[in-house]
Amino acid sequence: MENANLFSPFEIKGRRLKNRIGLAPMTRMSSSADGIPRQDVLDFLVRRAKNGVSIINTEGIVTDYESAQGYPGQSRMLTQKQIDAWTPVVKAIQAEGAVAVMQMFHCGRMAWPEVNPANRVIAPSPMAVRQINPVTGTSYPIPSAMSWFDIDHVINGFVETAKGGVVAGFDGIEIQGAHGYLISQFLSSYSNQRTDRYGGSVENRYFFIHRIINAVRSAIPEDVLLFVRISDWGVADMEVSLFGSREEFQEIIGYLSNEPIDAVSVSTYDYSQKAFGTDRTMARLAREITDLPIMICGAVHDRATAEDALKDADIVLSGKSLLLNPDWVKDIRENKRLNRYKSSEAGIAYTPEPLP
Ligand SMILES: Cc1cc2nc3c(=O)[nH]c(=O)nc-3n(C[C@H](O)[C@H](O)[C@H](O)COP(=O)(O)O)c2cc1C
Repeated sequence: MENANLFSPFEIKGRRLKNRIGLAPMTRMSSSADGIPRQDVLDFLVRRAKNGVSIINTEGIVTDYESAQGYPGQSRMLTQKQIDAWTPVVKAIQAEGAVAVMQMFHCGRMAWPEVNPANRVIAPSPMAVRQINPVTGTSYPIPSAMSWFDIDHVINGFVETAKGGVVAGFDGIEIQGAHGYLISQFLSSYSNQRTDRYGGSVENRYFFIHRIINAVRSAIPEDVLLFVRISDWGVADMEVSLFGSREEFQEIIGYLSNEPIDAVSVSTYDYSQKAFGTDRTMARLAREITDLPIMICGAVHDRATAEDALKDADIVLSGKSLLLNPDWVKDIRENKRLNRYKSSEAGIAYTPEPLP
């Protein structure tokens, strides 16, 4: 029997999602110096739309040419050529009846300096990531603490990139506030040791993303969706909880709730894990505070987990299952027995061969 929820439509600000299943943002590191992904990487997004996904998130698009890029082969949306490359892709996604959302990304201290044209590494505070960069095998650099000039410059990068996304025709723009990258470095007292307006209290640490949200919102048309992604985990120093407590996380959700945004995307390692020593999941803790639509991601891999994750959210996102299985939506619909993919299997994202 078909689940009414998972395959029921959902409306966000006048845009209709045909079901509750979305493709999570996934960086594929396929761009060359022009900042444009390989054609087969773009085609992959269209194929996921064709195969039933209702909302397609792009890879994290790097927001400026100075300090935003953290991995080789990331793409940008700052030149007409880059916009022209995405425009037909966005149209094709929409022609398949899906909604296209561009994610915007700044690495902050999670940097690989050589890939940034200006070779500059910046973060809220001059604290290096503790672990070794798994891609280079070397230490992460000690970042420069961002000046107020840097802060304005970075915000402008988000604004200009969002404008590029609008010209390319995207239905929505997402601000990557998760996974230990720049914005989450500001949110977390672990990596934000500032004593100015941007550090200290939760409200002060939130001020950076508050400015980004509002600058982007006023630069894009009213009907373009604006999402924020947030998590309690980061890709480096994984043992560190980015938020000090449940109270801190919920305070931030409360601030987001008052912003002119259209959904919160809660990213977890496993959606079912209980958070901050409570008996509740991250999505449930978010739901307690906000009426905004919630997207949940993390280890959703079959019909049962998708339905379970949807209890505390409006949309489920999948990364690895949709990366590795082009027929995932159909398989879910047919309630096939499906395994959870391991992180090591996600390396296929970086194959030079086209994925099915
Ligand atoms: C290859 C790969 C690239 C990713 N790149 C991004 C990214 O650019 N932005 C982002 O927010 N999350 C990124 N993620 C995280 C996924 O969006 C998702 O949160 C994570 O894979 C957990 O979901 P899953 O268990 O369904 O795979 C990436 C994950 C993978 C596997």
